[in-house]
Parts: sequence; C-alpha cells; structure tokens
Amino acid sequence: MSPSDPKRGNGVTRPYDLVLFGATGFTGALVAEYLAGHAPPSLRWALAGRSREKLEAVRRSLGMAQPRLAELPLLVADSHDRASLDRVAQDAHVVCTTVGPYALHGAELVAACVDAGTHYCDLTGEVQFIRRMIDAHHERAQQTGARIVHCAGFDSIPSDLGCLMLQEHAIEAFGAPCSVVRFSLTKNRGGVSGGTVASMLNLLDEARRDRSVLRTVGHPYALNPPGEQTGPDGSDQRGIGWDADAGTITAPFVMAAINTRVVRRSNALFGYRYGRDFSYSEVTSLPASPKGALTAAGLTLGLGGLLLAANVPPLRRALEKRLPKPGEGPSRRARERGFFEVELRGTGARPSGEPFEVRAVVAGTQDPGYGETAKMLGESALCLASDALTSAGGVLTPAVALGMTLVGRLRTAGMTFDIR
Ligand SMILES: NC(=O)c1ccc[n+]([C@@H]2O[C@H](COP(=O)([O-])OP(=O)(O)OC[C@H]3O[C@@H](n4cnc5c(N)ncnc54)[C@H](OP(=O)(O)O)[C@@H]3O)[C@@H](O)[C@H]2O)c1
Repeated sequence: MSPSDPKRGNGVTRPYDLVLFGATGFTGALVAEYLAGHAPPSLRWALAGRSREKLEAVRRSLGMAQPRLAELPLLVADSHDRASLDRVAQDAHVVCTTVGPYALHGAELVAACVDAGTHYCDLTGEVQFIRRMIDAHHERAQQTGARIVHCAGFDSIPSDLGCLMLQEHAIEAFGAPCSVVRFSLTKNRGGVSGGTVASMLNLLDEARRDRSVLRTVGHPYALNPPGEQTGPDGSDQRGIGWDADAGTITAPFVMAAINTRVVRRSNALFGYRYGRDFSYSEVTSLPASPKGALTAAGLTLGLGGLLLAANVPPLRRALEKRLPKPGEGPSRRARERGFFEVELRGTGARPSGEPFEVRAVVAGTQDPGYGETAKMLGESALCLASDALTSAGGVLTPAVALGMTLVGRLRTAGMTFDIR
C-alpha cells in the first residue's frame, strides 16, 4: 500500500499518514529535518506541538529548504490535554513523538494511540516509564492493533536490531541461535541535549522518592512479560573489567541499563527465538593501554560521581547550571563530527553440539544521540507508516515491531549493519 492510499492501517481513513509530535524541541527539529529530506512526496505528514508559534517557526525553516513544505499542516496539542491528544491520534496512522521526559509527558499520548489503534514510536530510554506502559496497555494494544514502539533511537536500535541480525544469521548459518551475545561500544563521539539530561535527572528523582522505581530499573528482566522475568543474566557491569577474547579493557556502558532490558523483552516476545537460556550484556570497550585504563577509570568513576552529584542538592544545582537546558544540544558541526561503532559477538552450538562464533558490527557516521538518532527514529516512523509489517499490536520493541525491514531501511540510509 502506498503512503498516500487513504485506506490504510486498520482500514480506517485518516487525514495523516504520520504526525511528528514535539517538532519544536531539539531532537524533534532534527527528526522534522530528516523527514523533510527523506519522506516520500506522497506521504501525508504533519507537525504537532503545544505552541503554534513555535511550530510555524519550524515549518518556516523547513519551507526555506523545500518550498512545498511551507504548507505542512500544524496540529496543536498538549501532553496533558487528553482531548487534544485523542484528536492527533485519531487523525493519524502513526504518531512519532520526541516530547520528553516521557515519564513526565508521555503516558497520555500512548493511551490515546492505543485507544485509536494508531501506531506509535518514541525515543524514551526510561525503563520505569516503559514498564508502566506495558502494564497499562500491552493487552489493549494487541486488541486495537496499535504497534507501540519505544526506544527507537541510539537506545536501543543498534542493540536490539544488531542482536536480531546476528541471531537471524546464526539460525540460518548454524541451525541454532547464539546462546550468549556480548555487545561492546568500540567507537563513540557524541554529546547530550537538555531533554536527555532532564530525563536522566527525572529518573533519579523518581527513584529517590519511590524505591519500587529503583527495583524496576535495576531488574535485568524489568521489561519481560509478567511471570517471565527470570533468566541467566544478573546486574550490568559496574566496574572495570578485562575481555580476554578481544584483549580489551571494559568499562560500564551507561545505556546498558535500558538496552539489555529491551533485547531480553524482544527474546520473550519472539517466543524465546534466541533461547530460554539466552544471555546478553553490554560494555564499553577500550584499548589495552595506559590511556584505555585511564578512560575506563574515568567512565566508571564519572558515572558514580554523576549519580552522587544528582542526589546532593548543592552539587545538583551546580550540575544543572553546566548541563544543556531543554531545547539545547550539540551544534551541527559537533553532530556531523560524531560517530559510533558497536560490535556484537555471539557464541553458540550447532544442533550437532559443535561450537560456533559469529560477529556483527553496527555503526553510524554522525553523533549517535542526535544525527543518527534522528535517522533511526525517522526511519522507524516511515517504516510504521509505509511498510508491510507482519507484527501484531502490543507494547513492542524495535526488533519485534519493525525487525529486519527497519535494518534494510537503515542500511539504505547509510548505517552499517554487517555480519563480519
Ligand atoms: N534514545 C535516544 O537515543 C535519545 C536521543 C535524543 C533524545 N532522546 C529523548 O528525547 C526526548 C526529547 O529530548 P530533547 O533534548 O529534544 O528535549 P527538548 O529539546 O527539551 O524538547 C522537548 C519537546 O517536548 C515538548 N513539550 C514539553 N512539554 C510538553 C507538553 N506539555 N505538551 C506538548 N509538548 C511538550 C517541547 O515543546 P516546547 O518547544 O513548546 O517547549 C519540545 O518540543 C528526551 O526524553 C530525551 O531523553 C533520546
């Protein structure tokens, strides 16, 4: 079905194929720019946000580059006004949102999309928020057919789709999935935006107020279906380690706390295609050199220091002054100079018992959290809007909802997804 076909999705005629909510924010503007450059001309899309004035400014800047976008429809809605969100959800086949922190501003939009049977994608990395959405909406989304896709950015697409690609390859080449997959961030240059800082600080505040949030976030199977929250994995790596196979120093990877939970949920929703005993972990990989050791120590202590500072009021105030505010983020030059590369190494055994090893690389050529994230979220939204997907409704993961179809899109868009 083409994007301009008025009878799409659940067979209901709706005015828009895709609505981008939060187009006035730092990341939202990057996603708007990505869609302006990559959406097929037939796609009926619109920008949404809480301020018409700000939306008009975003549209003006898109229209300067492409005059046909000067007439892009604008929808005004507020995250805390359910009626306005219902109108957006009912008028669209897909809603893509960059309005965060999601734990503060995201719940009502998910509810509106589930009720309207509207597909949805976002950039949350907030485990506690996703758990709430699963508990509140997974069953109903299965009924309405809405595909709710959280974590469609740097967290957790390289992890979730990298692991899916590796497992698909292992099953085809060796007749069995990898029982162990280890993810290493091998190259990375990127910055943070105000919305990401606000989301992390809000998570720490929630955890301080409510111990159950801390338990959820610390649970290795936090996002698995009820009754299926067990498996071989324990806590994420917290200190400095040594990877004997690769000959590298390892340090904690800050996104492991979300990515590992997403990959484990994918395995569960796939009916344990990766195996019941599947083990998955993530680290930052550093060269075995004095510089690598110093960086590993810096990453480990820096993470601990950040957690401490966020919880001590005078340090917290000093931290907030230095970090980017909502609407701020890395400059265009910094985004273009950014990059990332991750390696996934899997081991398993063929049905004959003979062991095998397999390796995959996922990489991007811009700042992972912004340039590449705008691409990953934009392509996820286009995939939901335009591609013939086989997944059912539910609160899903990128691998379960979009799978290898999205891998194909991201390759075409310039990202590396390779088996090596
Ligand atoms: N997973 C990843 O890889 C990744 C990467 C980048 C960002 N993110 C996440 O994306 C989110 C956005 O980050 P950002 O830096 O772009 O934030 P930002 O610049 O502060 O933008 C936030 C957006 O939310 C809108 N908003 C706030 N309250 C609203 C409300 N009540 N109703 C409607 N809209 C509202 C803002 O509208 P106004 O312009 O009117 O204020 C703005 O458009 C954060 O949660 C961040 O963690 C994730």
